[in-house]
Amino acid sequence: MKSWIIVTHVLMATVFHSVVGDTVMSSSLVIQNDDPLVHFHGRWDESPGTWWAGSGFKLHVQNLKTMSINLGPHTTAPLASVGVSLDYDSFTTINVSQGLNNIVGPTALNIEQTEGKSTSVVRLNVEGWQNNRINLESVLLNSDAKLLPYTPLKLAFQFVGDSLSAGQFLPEGVDQAWPFLTGERFRAEHNVNAQPGAALTTDTEQTEDTGYFYTTDHNFTTPWDFQRDQPPPTHVVIHIGANDAAQNVSDTEFVQVYTNFLIRLRNLYPHQPVFVFTPWGWPSADGSISQYYQGQYQIIVEQRHKAGDEQVFLVNTTGWVTWEDVFPE
Ligand SMILES: *[C@@H]1O[C@H](CO)[C@@H](O)[C@H](O)[C@H]1NC(C)=O
Ligand SMILES: *[C@@H]1O[C@H](CO)[C@@H](O)[C@H](O)[C@H]1NC(C)=O
Ligand SMILES: *[C@@H]1O[C@H](CO)[C@@H](O)[C@H](O)[C@H]1NC(C)=O
Ligand SMILES: *[C@@H]1O[C@H](CO)[C@@H](O)[C@H](O)[C@H]1NC(C)=O
Repeated sequence: MKSWIIVTHVLMATVFHSVVGDTVMSSSLVIQNDDPLVHFHGRWDESPGTWWAGSGFKLHVQNLKTMSINLGPHTTAPLASVGVSLDYDSFTTINVSQGLNNIVGPTALNIEQTEGKSTSVVRLNVEGWQNNRINLESVLLNSDAKLLPYTPLKLAFQFVGDSLSAGQFLPEGVDQAWPFLTGERFRAEHNVNAQPGAALTTDTEQTEDTGYFYTTDHNFTTPWDFQRDQPPPTHVVIHIGANDAAQNVSDTEFVQVYTNFLIRLRNLYPHQPVFVFTPWGWPSADGSISQYYQGQYQIIVEQRHKAGDEQVFLVNTTGWVTWEDVFPE
């Protein structure tokens, strides 16, 4: 590990010649994927790769002019969509593939946004809810750029959910989904730990994207390195249950499993407020909303209060999502 860091710094000081598409980046500063100044967020495996919508990395760069990313063989073919934001501006989709991809520069996100600024923050995240795996090998910056430590924002939100939080079917995936937008609105760091099909009561296989069940390099689950959970979340938001309900998990079992989950979360996040969202349910054209586990979320929260944990809050989302919200036409 130590020797890697030394190698990285040697490489960082080296000027490389490389061809990116049609653009010859005659001199680039190469940042290796294990450079401690790359601020990873969310769920990454050791390759390092991720297919978790919303997971990504951040860079704080002095004198940024161009940035490309070099992606490895685990990257989804033909492409994966990532969202990129400069200086906390809104996110733009860029489709990336194995090999070199322009991210910032004349043929990608225009640098004009950062002109006149001495330092810039680049945020990049996997956007899709499927076919969305990226495998980061290195980042290339203009040779006169300098990588600085990334200073996280003060607020940090941890969202736990399923397809209803992962941006399934949205054109820009999770970047248009409510957890991500909430994080942006509050100017917070945000991690979205959500996958379509995710349930609390099933085994690990069903907590993974179905597209990756058989990626044996992970043995059906992504090792979750909590050391990377930096900064630690200041708030935890959970919206889950739809897939447990779909699998006919009983009220009693759901309450038990959810309660155990909260107890385990407390080991990681000992004092953070936890917001237990009731489901928005399934709205119908006639205005009615079909619900599941009605009353059970209250029981879960009351049990935590009885156990002396007052920092668990029920959020009644009834009526937040209506038929018109889902089918605006
Ligand atoms: C990215 O690729 C998807 C799928 O091919 C396509 O629908 C979308 O328009 C592309 N987006 C951009 C910004 O290139
Ligand atoms: C994969 O996970 C299963 C279930 O946790 C375990 O029994 C098995 O030993 C694991 N296989 C490898 C290669 O790690
Ligand atoms: C759940 O129960 C319903 C009604 O009894 C049944 O139609 C459905 O097949 C069950 N689903 C599962 C996944 O067991
Ligand atoms: C949630 O809000 C709805 C609508 O206002 C109400 O009917 C319901 O009783 C509330 N549930 C709880 C647990 O407060």
